[in-house]
Amino acid sequence: MPNKTAAGASGAAETIHVTLEVNGREYSVPVRADERLLDLLRDRLSLMGTKEGCGIGECGACTVIMNGKTVNSCMVPAGSAQGAKILTIEGVESPSGELHPIQQSYIDAGAVQCGFCTPGMIMSTYALLAENRKPSDEQIKEALSGNLCRCTGYAQIIEAVHLAAGKLAATKN
Ligand code: FES
Ligand code: FES
Repeated sequence: MPNKTAAGASGAAETIHVTLEVNGREYSVPVRADERLLDLLRDRLSLMGTKEGCGIGECGACTVIMNGKTVNSCMVPAGSAQGAKILTIEGVESPSGELHPIQQSYIDAGAVQCGFCTPGMIMSTYALLAENRKPSDEQIKEALSGNLCRCTGYAQIIEAVHLAAGKLAATKN
């Protein structure tokens, strides 16, 4: 359970401390009881790559990987991330700043237009390819069904995922 450390006189401004690992680094973060994982990442840790679109669990812009599974971080109470391992878009590139093959594939396939959906798309792609190295079009559509894009029409995104699968297979074999 998160560690309760302070409560305002009215009880309304209660703060809890959440200890979690984000992109391989451990943090103990004070959050208000009503904050979301999205707020923790953006406002407390300044990890601004994760976007807020709808704020109600429908667009996928806020997708991160929590304990190996994709979640909409706008729908996860910050307190429930106690002890969790989180991967955000900032943790996908190499420590030297080299783009991950998935990121490069999105660029190469023309799948990044306004770019607002892209971090969430890439996190969903990352989770898919961790489980399925050679997904079909249908499997890609299913895995990305919670991520909305207003710009691309999705064809380039599907192409980007195939491209990334190929690049990853080439590097791991
Ligand atoms: S901002 Fe979280 S699903 Fe849209
Ligand atoms: S690239 Fe603009 S919303 Fe997807």
